[in-house]
Amino acid sequence: MALIFSDTEYSVRYQKYMLPASEKMVQMMLSYLIEKKGKPFELAVDVGCGTGRYTRPVAAHFEKVIGIDISESQINEARRSTSEDNVLYHTSPAEELPVKDASVDLVFAGLAAHWFIIDKFMQEAARVLKPGGCLALHAFIPIFEIQYQDVSETLTAIITETINVLLKYRDKSNDIMKNQYRELFEAVPFADKQRITDIPVMYQCSLADVLGFIQSIYMYQEFLKQDRDGATEFLQRVEKRFRDTLGESSHQVTLEFHMTCYCVLACKS
Ligand SMILES: C[S@@+](CC[C@H](N)C(=O)[O-])C[C@H]1O[C@@H](n2cnc3c(N)ncnc32)[C@H](O)[C@@H]1O
Repeated sequence: MALIFSDTEYSVRYQKYMLPASEKMVQMMLSYLIEKKGKPFELAVDVGCGTGRYTRPVAAHFEKVIGIDISESQINEARRSTSEDNVLYHTSPAEELPVKDASVDLVFAGLAAHWFIIDKFMQEAARVLKPGGCLALHAFIPIFEIQYQDVSETLTAIITETINVLLKYRDKSNDIMKNQYRELFEAVPFADKQRITDIPVMYQCSLADVLGFIQSIYMYQEFLKQDRDGATEFLQRVEKRFRDTLGESSHQVTLEFHMTCYCVLACKS
């Protein structure tokens, strides 16, 4: 997996196009931490932080946040895109966190834990968390809906068919995501744990945002790597279908992009 995210061109595209962090998911992690451990919020570690999509909004609530990613290009892009002075980034695997024992209030991972060697990562999370510290792993199901006036059905069919083509380039992470992290939940070594599924998240976005999102998906990156011309032509055909459906004002419309998220939450005793 590191190979997919280790391409500078892809990291730049990921930072530019991946949909923004969901405030709902940020609040879910923080409310759980308040309920289980309470303040102070000294240190959070964002594992598989990518270009810092969740590191930055979480940083507003902690004295310090460390973003960790196995990919140097993701970390370089995260550093370029972060101005918060309480954020540090490290290139390091999730299975060897460069953090002291019992020093972290919140270990979290957004859209990343499905690629970790899960038993090793769980051991590390247990090692670095303070007593009462929390673990939060969240992501979305790779199935989407787009709503706009009376063409929602067609728009949803286009995004569904697009993802179905990209599935040819999937890896095992796709099944873990579709199962809403059931396997990851079972692997959490803490007795106090819960899994919240089927959380609706909606983004208001433009057609350009939707086309950008498609390009930020790792499966599209894999398609590009294997067949650059084929992937580019495929995206052009997808764009034409969207534009034909939305008509002349396609570049002006605000679409509703719906996804289903889930979160595994756990507290170290
Ligand atoms: C889809 S991105 C998600 C990035 C970010 N958390 C977000 O929500 O945008 C997945 C990230 O996980 C990282 N990753 C995958 N396996 C990893 C591992 N074993 N250790 C650390 N990072 C890993 C990848 O390099 C990539 O940046």
